[in-house]
Amino acid sequence: MKFVAFNVREDERRYFEEWSKENGIEVSLKKEEITPDNVSETVGYDAVIGLQTGLYPDNLFKELSDANIKVFSVRNVGVDNINLDDAKQNGIAVTNVPAYSPSAIAEFSVTQLLQLLRNQNLFRKRMAKQDYRWAPFVGKELGKMTVGVMGTGRIGRAAIQIYKGFGAKVIAYDPFHNPELEKEGIYVEKEDLLKKADVITLHMPATDDDYHFINEKTISMMKDGAYIVNTARGSLIDTSALVEALRSGKLAGAALDTYENEASIFNHDLEGQEIEDETFKELIKLDNVVVSPHIAFYTNVAVENMVKISLNSAKEVIETGTSSTLVK
Ligand code: NAD
Ligand code: COI
Repeated sequence: MKFVAFNVREDERRYFEEWSKENGIEVSLKKEEITPDNVSETVGYDAVIGLQTGLYPDNLFKELSDANIKVFSVRNVGVDNINLDDAKQNGIAVTNVPAYSPSAIAEFSVTQLLQLLRNQNLFRKRMAKQDYRWAPFVGKELGKMTVGVMGTGRIGRAAIQIYKGFGAKVIAYDPFHNPELEKEGIYVEKEDLLKKADVITLHMPATDDDYHFINEKTISMMKDGAYIVNTARGSLIDTSALVEALRSGKLAGAALDTYENEASIFNHDLEGQEIEDETFKELIKLDNVVVSPHIAFYTNVAVENMVKISLNSAKEVIETGTSSTLVK
């Protein structure tokens, strides 16, 4: 057996090497993402291991099928950038890592929200000028707020535990109710969540149905002065509508770990270069926005699990034809 992994960072290398040694399977490591130009480099391997936030090339699964590859394993949760129908038609199994560390993402989303609630951008700006005054940036307390959680899967549930720890009231929407949370009576209709929450935190997958779920209309339904937290996917938010609402004061703040056109910006060193994306430039200028470059997942626990679980899944599919992490 021989695997090839793409978009491998330095901090992942040791986990690939450890796994390779433990399992006696060669894994070739490539620094580049999978692109239409390098997809042919998968020839000669049994499994391909990917990780990227941008779209995978259109010809990916045809190339993998022609190369007799049986499995494409991604080292992350979200599969919105993969053409799963195409994978099926070409007979390629796709696996993901559904739970490498839900608490990593949940902890980060709450951390970013707290930065907003305590006006950290404004204080940092002042302190950079040796201005250490307090007024008028009075903070707000999470424990006095109602948090609306969109999506009560692994990350949403981990976030709910943290919010409860702060004493916040939690309400949630998910088309599929978790039996434990159902007993607690936290589920409400989507519209009620939009109307009642002081904080709306997104933890659902990106789907065509939820493209720009946060838009001018849904924002108008929200409380004046509400906050939005998005560690899920950028496409869930119409960024232009969000910028407008943050400028007008309709929304008090937004903590964003994802952005709809992030693939060419996040995890790239653009120092000294002009960013062409005007909406992004407007967004990051705002004092009531905390933007991070898709790093909610990025902890030592998560990175090791992402690498090793994805490799285990690929091996399992080759040996048994299936895996508990198969994406259907
Ligand atoms: P999960 O599959 O465990 O949970 C997703 C939940 O969303 C499910 O309960 C599902 O029923 C629900 N859902 C589906 N459609 C919905 C809708 N329209 N409204 C409300 N809920 C809906 O997934 P997870 O592990 O909790 O991850 C959630 C998302 O977080 C992923 O899809 C991914 O996009 C994102 N993510 C981001 C990072 C990061 O670093 N920023 C890391 C991992 C995952
Ligand atoms: C995910 O696991 O879905 C993420 O968003 C993490 C990222 C490295 C792709």
